[in-house]
Formats: sequence, C-alpha cells, structure tokens
Amino acid sequence: GGSGDGVKSEGEDTGPMRLGHSGEPLYTTLVGHPVSDDNHSVTIGESGTVTFEDLHLFEKNAHFNRERIPERVVHAKGAGAHGFFEVTQDVTDLCKAGIFSEVGKKTPVFARFCTVTGESGFADTARDPRGFALKFYTEEGNWDLVGNNTPVFFVRDALKFPDLIHSQKRNPQTHMKDPNAFWDFLSLVPESLHQVLITFSPRGVPDGHRHMHGYGSHTFKWVNKEGKAHWVKFHFISDQGIKNITHERAVELAGINPDYSTEDLFQNIQNGNGPSWTFKVQVMPLEDAPSYRFDPFDLTKVWSHKDYPLREVGKLKLDRNPTNYFAEVEQASFSPAHMVPGIEASPDRVLQARLFAYDDAARYRLGANHLQLPINQCPFAKVQNYSRDGQMNYGDNGGGKPNYFPNSFEDLPRPDPAQPDVHPYEHEGGIVARAPPRKWSEQDDYEQPRALWNHMSKEDQEQTAKNIAGHIQGAKDFIIERQLGVFRKCDPSLAQKVEEMLGMKKKSEDPYTMVA
Ligand code: HEM
Repeated sequence: GGSGDGVKSEGEDTGPMRLGHSGEPLYTTLVGHPVSDDNHSVTIGESGTVTFEDLHLFEKNAHFNRERIPERVVHAKGAGAHGFFEVTQDVTDLCKAGIFSEVGKKTPVFARFCTVTGESGFADTARDPRGFALKFYTEEGNWDLVGNNTPVFFVRDALKFPDLIHSQKRNPQTHMKDPNAFWDFLSLVPESLHQVLITFSPRGVPDGHRHMHGYGSHTFKWVNKEGKAHWVKFHFISDQGIKNITHERAVELAGINPDYSTEDLFQNIQNGNGPSWTFKVQVMPLEDAPSYRFDPFDLTKVWSHKDYPLREVGKLKLDRNPTNYFAEVEQASFSPAHMVPGIEASPDRVLQARLFAYDDAARYRLGANHLQLPINQCPFAKVQNYSRDGQMNYGDNGGGKPNYFPNSFEDLPRPDPAQPDVHPYEHEGGIVARAPPRKWSEQDDYEQPRALWNHMSKEDQEQTAKNIAGHIQGAKDFIIERQLGVFRKCDPSLAQKVEEMLGMKKKSEDPYTMVA
C-alpha cells in the first residue's frame, strides 16, 4: 500500500529494449525503423541540398513543431506529485464511498498545485490563489477534488468567471497585467471582497505548495449506505503548517527562482520528506440548510467552525515525483464532475457550472479521449460503456462488441439501478430561473470579510493594507476611490490603512469620469 500502487508513470510498458549491433539501445524513428545517423541529413553530394528521402529529418522536426498543446486557460503553472490517501477515522456513518470503507484503507492519489492567472512559465511566488487538485484512483472510478488553498472564491456565480479571469490576466492591447481591469472588476463586484482580503493578506503568497491548506471550497453532499445525506465542506490541513513569504521576498524570488514552489515540492519528495495533509470535514445536516443564517451554498462564505466543527477523516501523503512532467502533470485533467457513489454535488451554482467546464476544457486542451491518457485512467475501475471512436482513440475501442444500448446480448454493460449517482433531495420548490441566491443581502459581502479583517493581527493588517496599496496604486483614481468605498463599508480602519499606505488625497482629482 505505498504511493500510487498500480498507477503508471509514463514509459513503463514499452516491451523489451531493442538493441543495435553494438549491443547498445537502438535509436529508432517514430515508426520504429532503425536510425543510422542523427548528425547528417541525407543530401545530394557533400554540400548539396537535403532530399525528401530523409524521413527522419522531417519527422523529427515536424514532431518538434507540434510539441506545444494549449496550456490550461487558468491554473497553467503547476507542479504535481503522486502519493496516497489513508483513512484514519471511521466516517461510514456519513459516506458510503469505497475510499472511506475502513480505517487503514489506502488509495493512490495524484496531486497538482498551481497558481491561477499566470501562464505556464509564470513565477511561482505570484500573489494569487493556489490550486489544490487531487485525483483519487478508487475502486469505483476516479474521485477528483479540484480545490484551492482558500475556502472561498471571488464570485458566487460562474457567469462572472470569464470576466473575473479576463480582468486578472493581460490587457488586450498592451499584453500587460492591468491594475485598472483588476480593480475595476473587483470594485464593481463586492462579493469578491472575502477572497480579495485573503489574497492580499500574508496567505496570498504561501511558502511553496507544502505550506498551505487545501479546501474543496464548495459545499458537497455525502450520502451513507442508508441513503441519508449531509452537506459537507472539505479541508486539507497542512501537516507542515502554514508558512508564507513576505511580499518583498516574493518579488525577489520571482526574479531569482520563478520555479520556487515547483522546486521545493520536487526536492522535498526526492529527499524523502514528502508533504502530508490531514483531511477533515465540516458536516451540516440537510435540515439545517434552509434555516442557516446565510446561504450555505454561497461560495463567498465559510461555515462557522463553532456551528460545524472539523471532523477528521484521514491523511494525504505525497511521496513520489512524476517521471515525466508532460505525461503526468500537463496531461492530467481534473474535473469536479468526477465523483464516486456517496459523494455528490450541492446546489452551489458555481460548482454546478464547474461540473461542465473541466471536461469541456480538457476536450479542447487534450482531445475527446483525454480520459484514456494513462494519468487520467483509473487502474482499479475498468471503463465499460458504448462511447466509441474520436481522435487518438488508442485502446481496443470496444473491439467487435455492439456499440449501442439497449441491446439483446449477454455480457455487455448494463446500468445498475442500485447505484444511483444522484440521491434525490428537495430544494427550494423547484422553479428554474435566473435569480439572485436565496437569503442573500448586500450586507453579506461585508460581514465575513469584516470578521476576517478584525481577526487579523495588527501586523497582518499592516501587511495586507500594504500589499493592496502596492497593487492598487497602478489603477486610475476613480477605481481606487470605488474600491476604497468597498473597504470603508467593510471597516473604516481597512480603508484608512490602505489610504495611509497610498498616501493619496481623500478627494480624487482624476479627470476620468466613470462610465455608468
Ligand atoms: C482549472 C474553470 C472556479 C480550482 C480550471 C480550468 C477551467 C476552470 C476551464 C482549466 C481546466 C483544464 O484545462 O484542465 C472554472 C470555472 C469556475 C472555476 C468556470 C467558476 C467560477 C474554480 C474554483 C476552484 C477552482 C472555485 C477551487 C475551489 C481549479 C483548479 C484548476 C482549475 C485547482 C487546475 C486543475 C489542474 O491542476 O489541472 N478551472 N473554475 N476553479 N480550477 Fe477552476
């Protein structure tokens, strides 16, 4: 039961090595023909032109020309590692998923951590949330938990997601990061404030991927063997402890070692010091949800730990580096929709949209058969269905068996009504419409950020205000004013501290007027 039992690294299954006449491994073309010379193209005469006879020359260059695939549209810069999950506490009263069936049970895991808005070569120490994506290879198929290092998010509706990301990526004209777009969007969308404060607090730059917690962030549903359901929130608490990098050091590291977190993870695993996390859940009875003091499915909010204390489930341990970055990390595709029986979605509207977004993105990024890639295949749960064909289909594609259902033949896959993927539950009377979330008021955008601000030490408050001021100073005055208004509504001392750091005049003299 160690790391990744049964989960392949790339290149493990290539058959016996072919040897050349010297007894050394034979270099072959992509088709497998022997290569006799890799230094000289086939030419006409000693200084003549090359010929089309040189398949190796063209093939080698043509393949090189196609090495790049689209990077992830968000979360492009990342690092991954293999490991395992071990159950330490019995939670079978809450969840029937096989992964939790008994204390001591181990399940192989692949994890990927990343920044969000930078490209695949971006600095690891950017001030940004961090992705915290886990793929559990279970006997009931893969369970992907595609979380972040923050328990909340910028928006409570995925309809705003492309705008949020546009505003944080590059300006369409200058191709530079744009504090105007960044703060223009955020100051118009105050539901972002909870996440903004976390991102600009010292936790906005974790000291590598080992020193941060991971959160499922959304509310999920756990269902037990009797079909009883609970709402749950997932927490992965770093056993290494929280450690952050100061703003100044982060900026310095971005220059000295843009791969700081990638290196930290790789080296520590290499040295036998792989990181671990303790998996805990908050559990809310379904009956509590309608009367809880705010919408428990609102992704901009955390559940009070007093109301719903953390309950331990198990340990996540990472102990094996990928052998090939592209095959295992770049080609990994995680999706919140990959859930196993006993783990289900909640009505959180961001989660619901994400259930579609990830496999859709993977079909573009990796192709229609991305789930056939070794890193995405579950070695313990054979895939059996009637989907066929598509680009780069490299299994046996169902062989000669019927490719439709229903059919009249034996020994072919049949649905099992005893294994429902969604347990029916009552929610909100069932009128489907575009509408604001239940029990939401404007005040909601400020209450928890205010509590977070007042919970911070004086020192953390100073740093947070300084980090914000350092960033927002690049925005136009009317945008700064608007965001200061958001801060003021949260807590006058927050606005005041940022203003002090900015050293700006209270009254804006900016010539730009706001386009309403
Ligand atoms: C990556 C969409 C919110 C965590 C991605 C990708 C897309 C996406 C399209 C790229 C996937 C790929 O190419 O494989 C969305 C949408 C959201 C949203 C539409 C709606 C607001 C969130 C939230 C979290 C999150 C709230 C965390 C709680 C991640 C992570 C990755 C990712 C960790 C990288 C996964 C990996 O390592 O491959 N997202 N996202 N996203 N997202 Fe989201």
